[in-house]
Amino acid sequence: MWFLAIFFVLMHIVELSNGGVTSNYVRKPEPSVDMPIEMFPPPAGHNAPEQVHITQGDHEGRSMIISWVTPLKHHGAVIYWEAEAKDSNQKKCKVRSRNTSYKYHNYTSGHIHHATIKGLKHDTKYVYELGQHPVTRRFYFTTPPKVGPDVPCTFGVIGDLGQTFDSNQTLEHYISNPKGQALLFVGDLSYADDYPFHNNERWDTWARFVEKSTAYQPWIWTAGNHEIDFAPEIGEKIPFKPYTHRYHVPYQASKSSSPLWYSIKRASAYIIVLSSYSAYGKYTPQYDWLEQEFPKVNRKETPWLIVLLHSPWYNSNNYHYMEGESMRVMFESWFVQYKVDLVFSGHVHAYERSERISNVRYNITDGLSTPIKDASAPVYITIGDGGNIEGIANSFTESQPSYSAYREASFGHAILDIKNRTHAYYTWHRNQDNEPVVADSTWFFNRYWYPEEEHN
Ligand SMILES: [Fe+2]
Repeated sequence: MWFLAIFFVLMHIVELSNGGVTSNYVRKPEPSVDMPIEMFPPPAGHNAPEQVHITQGDHEGRSMIISWVTPLKHHGAVIYWEAEAKDSNQKKCKVRSRNTSYKYHNYTSGHIHHATIKGLKHDTKYVYELGQHPVTRRFYFTTPPKVGPDVPCTFGVIGDLGQTFDSNQTLEHYISNPKGQALLFVGDLSYADDYPFHNNERWDTWARFVEKSTAYQPWIWTAGNHEIDFAPEIGEKIPFKPYTHRYHVPYQASKSSSPLWYSIKRASAYIIVLSSYSAYGKYTPQYDWLEQEFPKVNRKETPWLIVLLHSPWYNSNNYHYMEGESMRVMFESWFVQYKVDLVFSGHVHAYERSERISNVRYNITDGLSTPIKDASAPVYITIGDGGNIEGIANSFTESQPSYSAYREASFGHAILDIKNRTHAYYTWHRNQDNEPVVADSTWFFNRYWYPEEEHN
């Protein structure tokens, strides 16, 4: 009888279908409410630095881009030093920032500073200080270890965050996990464009909101549709204007011609960031770059090949269904050829993990248009569940397609814990649970070094 009892308990937890698991967890159907703008005042003090965020500044992990905003124009600089230097007389170093600002409709930004610290030691904690005496602010970060095939590293993964009370729960939940060393952000940051005239003050409040994480560990940025800010009706005709002024990435280090697509190496991972909202047809800059980029990936040096892009290719939610299809048609054969391990996307405000599948056989005459299991294909993870103001995407297609391994309409974040060249442990954490509780988890086997089928 005991096994019957366990069976019924399991049936209660999950709903079985011809695909994978559709979680029976039901998030309360309440709207996501924005945190009031007053919750994020600028820091105290004359011309205090604010909105501090950092990202990897080169291809190898020995540079860091430090970005911040000051209300008034001045020559900014970062002062930095090793946190635990053996030599107590260690000299403090200084790097000047390059300043920019922009206007958007009736909004004028503060002075946006970007400073790149170069020549850092690997695996070392640094303290850095911003501001002018006596109004200074201190932060710290730890550089990644030297790139190598068995170097462990742990990434957080968040998408479509916004600035609601749910967004705050997602971010606090992630910060409570002590293992996250860098964050893979899959696009849609502030949702400022959901406000009248794309109220760019919401770009400021968002950067103040996330500073508790972005000032201390690099966030690897991907652009989503809420970064486009193309609004000719109010005279704004330059796409990505606020985003590209505020968020710098090391795109030139990977020979890219645009900050919207680029790559970095970090520990044992090679991360390629693509833009769902830039041209990707044949002969376009992004297409040409990616064609040249994939052959450069040396899996003997960086076994884990990970792609970030905003609009998912495989997703069984009715929201934004098939919006990523044209990009899939252009690039999927390369992803299979070069054995991409994982693809993280956002856009759909729910969580879903796919099987390893591809749909590259179809050639418009052969009728072979169904995704099939493919050991060379990536796992596709949709993680647009950061909790933004647009609410949850709670309408999945029925029945669950065979390519869908797990799906759930709630907010959360993920942790990707790369152990060595063959194994990575992946967990997804819904906001309603404590951090140690895992709602979805699996071991990923590396496609180059250990291309066996994973057992979920
Ligand atoms: Fe989106």
